[in-house]
Parts: sequence; C-alpha cells; structure tokens
Amino acid sequence: MVDIDVGTDAAPRYRWPENSRSVEDAASVASGGGCSHTTESVMSMDASDTLTEKRSGLGQIAKRVAGCTDCGLSRGRTRTVPGEGNPDAQIMFIGEGPGFYEDQQGRPFVGASGKFLDELLAGIGLDRKKVFIANVVKCRPPSNRDPQPDEIAACGKHLDGQIGAIQPKVIVTLGRYSMQRYFPGESISRIHGTPRRKDGLIVVPMYHPAAALHQGSLRRVIEADFARLPGFLEKVLAGGTPEATESEVPPHMRKGAPTVAAKQGQAAATAASAEQQEAESQQMRLL
Ligand code: URA
Repeated sequence: MVDIDVGTDAAPRYRWPENSRSVEDAASVASGGGCSHTTESVMSMDASDTLTEKRSGLGQIAKRVAGCTDCGLSRGRTRTVPGEGNPDAQIMFIGEGPGFYEDQQGRPFVGASGKFLDELLAGIGLDRKKVFIANVVKCRPPSNRDPQPDEIAACGKHLDGQIGAIQPKVIVTLGRYSMQRYFPGESISRIHGTPRRKDGLIVVPMYHPAAALHQGSLRRVIEADFARLPGFLEKVLAGGTPEATESEVPPHMRKGAPTVAAKQGQAAATAASAEQQEAESQQMRLL
C-alpha cells in the first residue's frame, strides 16, 4: 500500500512499501562486492535469502560487465557503469548510457541529468538507494553520441540479467533508447507517462531528464509523469491492472481524442502538424 502522507508541506509525501527500503551499500552493488546487514536484520530468513541472491546475481553481472569486450564501446571506456541501487527495488529506471562523469566514476546519472533525476525521485519520496538505476549500454559512447543498435544489442544480456535478478514491479524507461527496447517505433511524445504491459513487465516510458534540462517546457511534463508513479505501483501491488485506464491517459492521448485537424479544420491542421513535427523532432534530437 502506498500511503499518501500530506504532512505539513504543501507537497504530498508518499510512504513507500516496505521493500522500497534503502540499501546502504548501493555503491558496492554496482561494483559487485560487499553485503550489508544494516537494514535486513529484521527480515525473515526467506526475504534475507532472496536479497542475498539478488545482490549476488547483480554482483556477478557487474563483474561480467567489467570484463566485457563484446562491442566497440569497451575500447574507449575509463570505467564500466553497470548500474546501482537496491537489489530488491520495486522500481527500476533505465537510462541511455554513461556520459563523461559516469565514465569517470563508474556510477550512473551522476552529472547534471543525474542531479535532476535525484530531484524527481525526491519529489515522490524516493532516493537512488531505494530504486535501481541502470542504462541500456554500460560503457560511454564516444563524445556522448547515441548508442548504436549493435552496442545496445550486445549489452542487452547484462540489462536482461539485472532485470531478471531484481524482478522489479515497474520499469521506467528514461529517453527514447530505453523506450525503444520495449516499444520500438513508438514516439516518446505520444506514449510518455503511460504504463504498458510488455513481456510480463509493467513499463512506463518517460522523457530523459536531460531533455527536460534542454527544453524547459518538458520539465513540468516529466514531473507530472513521475508524480503518477506511486499510483501505478500501488495498483500493481494490489494486483489490479497496471495498464493505464483511459482516465489515467492524458487527454491528448486518449482513444478518440479530437485531433488538431478535427478541431481547427484542414488548413490550420496542416500548419499545426508541421509545427508539431518540428517540436517532436527537436525533442527527439534532445533525447
Ligand atoms: N544519461 C544516461 O542516460 N545515463 C547516465 O548514466 C547518465 C546520463
């Protein structure tokens, strides 16, 4: 149950379910070492065994990533960036790939977009020790270029392994490369913020935080999408349908929503559609 605690502030705070608890040694999960007993001492044997198994699985994957040379990105890396966070996370975030700072530190989302991601998490009562954060590629693409299909494919086994170990209830894709993993050919501007079931998982596509940093108007959009996450998770945990109901789908994406053409007539629609296409392609370039 995800309680909403209004508290004394204006913004609601969510009381996240028990196994959104922090794991103190997030960094050691990323590097494949260590075992924390700080928060697990009150857990039952089974839960503790499961957590140990998940941590060990993630550690093995991190070690494989550290030695991986399956694509050309391995040649330019300073450090691999396997991902980090709670091995028992209910929500997993998947970004694109390491940038300069991530490559230096071996940790995901530690630059400007990471700072914004931290703010987005804090806005819904989470932090990075309660979730798991990974990327579609674990090594930095040169000059932060887009990851290529062969690189994404080569790295897919590591990400699949992480998802299999963690078994999150909800996956949030950040940006179009991780969205395409689940919904190839889709447009982020059309499906962002809408949970969908894919391969037995609940996936919520979202804009990449860097896109919101480059394009101010997207900031509100990504904040609004994040604000709906607790409700989605609550629904999943309650065993209800996690897929968005029509009332959860933003009005412009609902089935039968009037198109710009219907509203404004064909001439206006032509102009609006050109404008929309330009806005969309600009967003795509930023993602
Ligand atoms: N952008 C990403 O997609 N991943 C990172 O780790 C950092 C920036």
